Amino acid sequence: MPGARAELVIDYYNRRIKVMDFTGLFEEISGTLEALAEAEEMGKIIVYTPPEKGNEPKTCGYAEEGTIRGYYAGKDCHIFSSYPKNSRGISFHKEKEDQVIKNCLRKGRGEGKNPHKLGDSLKKGRWKLQKENIRLPEEYTLRPAVQADASTMATLYSQGFQFYPTPLHMESYLLKTMDSNVLYLLVEKQGEIVSLASAEMDSETGSAEITDCLTVPSERGKGLIKELITALENELSCRNFLSSYTLCRASSPGINAAFASQGYAYTGRLVNNCRIERGFEDMNIWCKRLK
Ligand SMILES: CC(C)(COP(=O)(O)OP(=O)(O)OC[C@H]1O[C@@H](n2cnc3c(N)ncnc32)[C@H](O)[C@@H]1OP(=O)(O)O)[C@@H](O)C(=O)NCCC(=O)NCCS
Repeated sequence: MPGARAELVIDYYNRRIKVMDFTGLFEEISGTLEALAEAEEMGKIIVYTPPEKGNEPKTCGYAEEGTIRGYYAGKDCHIFSSYPKNSRGISFHKEKEDQVIKNCLRKGRGEGKNPHKLGDSLKKGRWKLQKENIRLPEEYTLRPAVQADASTMATLYSQGFQFYPTPLHMESYLLKTMDSNVLYLLVEKQGEIVSLASAEMDSETGSAEITDCLTVPSERGKGLIKELITALENELSCRNFLSSYTLCRASSPGINAAFASQGYAYTGRLVNNCRIERGFEDMNIWCKRLK
């Protein structure tokens, strides 16, 4: 491949190849990607594409599934996909998932309007500020997770997700990511962790993925995830991140409603993208500019 290079993630758990970056013409690497997908039995190839690369993957038969707005230091990332195994490209619950989005949009949300515009107070300091925006009932407290929480968090995640694209059920994985680029926040009720979420921060691009959202069943519907999303955004803003996004389960009304109501815009769906629970699931993309 003279002149063409690509940075790949070969994801065996989710049976997909992710092209995070490429230089040179995409057509110079597409044949190699196909061969690799066949050799490794990967059902999906995903290409993160900056605007200056235009529709290069499209000319090689890829379809654009969505956009992460502001992903590259304010510039959009276009996500193109190809399905070497055709059956992987068929969405099994499209109607239900379209209805979830319709319900979000019907409330006048999900179009990127920001109902909680972050004010000047954000520039003042850290946790003090987050509390200013956070409205939780008295017996609940919101705080960053610390290493001593990892074991309980791993147990809660393993109870909440039978399968998950990353090994959240492993204490060692939580400790390692906590120590690097992932910020975990949690809500406690009388000392017991009842809700969790994280932001995976990419300081090179200035964007962060809000992910790993879970509320224990008895505490759902009380607005806890919405408060955690707000608190993560506050912290990201303090750290000068420009945008946040999520890739969330397309069939879950609660998680889509949470991001829609926090002013995120719906910008696409990645078909059969991750293995969660019973099999591959479609993931919706929701984005928000923080600055
Ligand atoms: C999705 C989940 C995290 C939501 O947590 P939560 O603390 O109950 O969410 P909130 O109370 O903050 O509610 C968020 C929004 O979802 C809505 N909602 C919550 N549960 C809902 C449900 N079962 N059906 C429809 N809407 C629901 C709320 O009304 C709210 O929307 P609104 O602002 O328009 O009123 C929780 O249901 C959960 O842990 N599910 C299992 C794990 C999971 O699938 N996580 C998502 C991975 S991508």
